[in-house]
Amino acid sequence: MGTSTQAYGEPWYWDNRYSSESGPFDWYQKYPSLAPLINLYIPRHVHPRILVVGCGNSAFSEGMVSDGYEDVVNIDISSVVIEAMKKKHSNHPQLKYIEMDVRDMSEFQSGSFDAVIDKGTLDSILCGNDSRNNATKMLKEVWSNEFEKLLVLLSLMADKLLSDEGSEHPIQELTNPVPIDDNGSSVEAVLGKNPDVHYIYVCTKDESLKPEQKA
Ligand SMILES: C[S@@+](CC[C@H](N)C(=O)[O-])C[C@H]1O[C@@H](n2cnc3c(N)ncnc32)[C@H](O)[C@@H]1O
Repeated sequence: MGTSTQAYGEPWYWDNRYSSESGPFDWYQKYPSLAPLINLYIPRHVHPRILVVGCGNSAFSEGMVSDGYEDVVNIDISSVVIEAMKKKHSNHPQLKYIEMDVRDMSEFQSGSFDAVIDKGTLDSILCGNDSRNNATKMLKEVWSNEFEKLLVLLSLMADKLLSDEGSEHPIQELTNPVPIDDNGSSVEAVLGKNPDVHYIYVCTKDESLKPEQKA
């Protein structure tokens, strides 16, 4: 791409990129390959309201709607991509696009969503300046303020780009969950060391950890 990955944390980088690339483009994985896990953790029959953070011009949310999800709200910090996606999906009432910074989602009422999906946005923030502070802000915002029920956060590690070329390790197809134990060793037991895979973290809120219930 000819740009340092540090720029991935900057809104100007994404505005420039989306001004010159209309897409669609999906980072890491497209919807069909993740659909078994999405269906497992976000069952369609409960008619979930879903928030996709840092949607970009990905076809992921469109794929979810074709798969039966009825209410998918997408946010991104880039006004350029949000305007383009609004126009593109103006005849899809199941899809909404809003310009918003994931580090400040105070526009949403508490408990607005059943699940949150992140594909590549935490990674981008982690590439940028002041990454620890910004990532903490994002996770606090997603975790504490807005979402009362189930939270699913999928984050794919930026340094694990899926590629067959030059890899010592075969590409793994995983459609069953791999639970992580306290020291992470079950993932290594299944995949081996340094596998060529994307990582998907599924987090579910533990209501017992709420501060008022601890006391
Ligand atoms: C690596 S791209 C992933 C795009 C899309 N989710 C995908 O999977 O193809 C990261 C996206 O996060 C957006 N982004 C970066 N920082 C953000 C922030 N603070 N709030 C909201 N979106 C942000 C960028 O504009 C970009 O669209």
